[in-house]
Amino acid sequence: MSGKEGHAPRLFGRGKGHALRPRQQKLVDELLPRLGLPGEITDRAVLANDETPLWLEIGFGSGEHLITQAQRHPDINFIGIEPYLNGMAKALCAVEDHNLGNVRLVRDDARIVLERFPDASLDRVFILFPDPWPKKRHLKRRLISPEFVTELARLIRPGGRLRFASDIAHYQAWALAHILDNGAFAWTAKCADDWRQMAQDHVPTRYEGKARKAGRACVTLDFIRKSCA
Ligand SMILES: C[S@@+](CC[C@H](N)C(=O)[O-])C[C@H]1O[C@@H](n2cnc3c(N)ncnc32)[C@H](O)[C@@H]1O
Repeated sequence: MSGKEGHAPRLFGRGKGHALRPRQQKLVDELLPRLGLPGEITDRAVLANDETPLWLEIGFGSGEHLITQAQRHPDINFIGIEPYLNGMAKALCAVEDHNLGNVRLVRDDARIVLERFPDASLDRVFILFPDPWPKKRHLKRRLISPEFVTELARLIRPGGRLRFASDIAHYQAWALAHILDNGAFAWTAKCADDWRQMAQDHVPTRYEGKARKAGRACVTLDFIRKSCA
């Protein structure tokens, strides 16, 4: 999957939608570069100091979950990666509206951005309602793959956490199988309600709202990065 091997993974899905409003465009031009990552990420200290946990959301859409978590946890540093311009613009508006100083945003493919992150640099990762790609011929487009789970295992520190959410039963089973097959993660669920009901600290997302309206059941799968694997 790696750009290191000389070819970048192909990104499927929308890069942008309707034209941005003037305020959104200004924030994309002026605030987004200031919230981005440093050019060189030599070690974790460049992203967050040792005492500050670092949480990442991949594919945050319009940012409802990321922004609410950042408001709830001012002592945690957040990074959100999302290639969709219009979603990014909405998140930028929220960062400005709430004057958040603990959020960094990157408009790109997370698989490429994360290659630059040091081992064990993340305390928590959220992958909420990734594009389901339900057709059999499109399954390879799914974000969760054996290679990407290996990358997550490299990035999340031992004892750190990974949350996956989906409304698509096939993707739920797919993600569970791929994440457990890797061997680096333990599923925290002790009973069916632990995954059937959304986790207590979950913040509903825009996509999730649409899924529920359409009558689809949503689940969260929570994992802990094991100490050795
Ligand atoms: C179905 S939407 C869900 C958005 C949001 N998490 C929610 O629940 O409302 C999936 C999102 O993942 C983003 N995405 C797809 N591939 C990605 C990648 N390789 N890196 C980062 N984000 C990605 C898409 O742009 C899209 O916004």
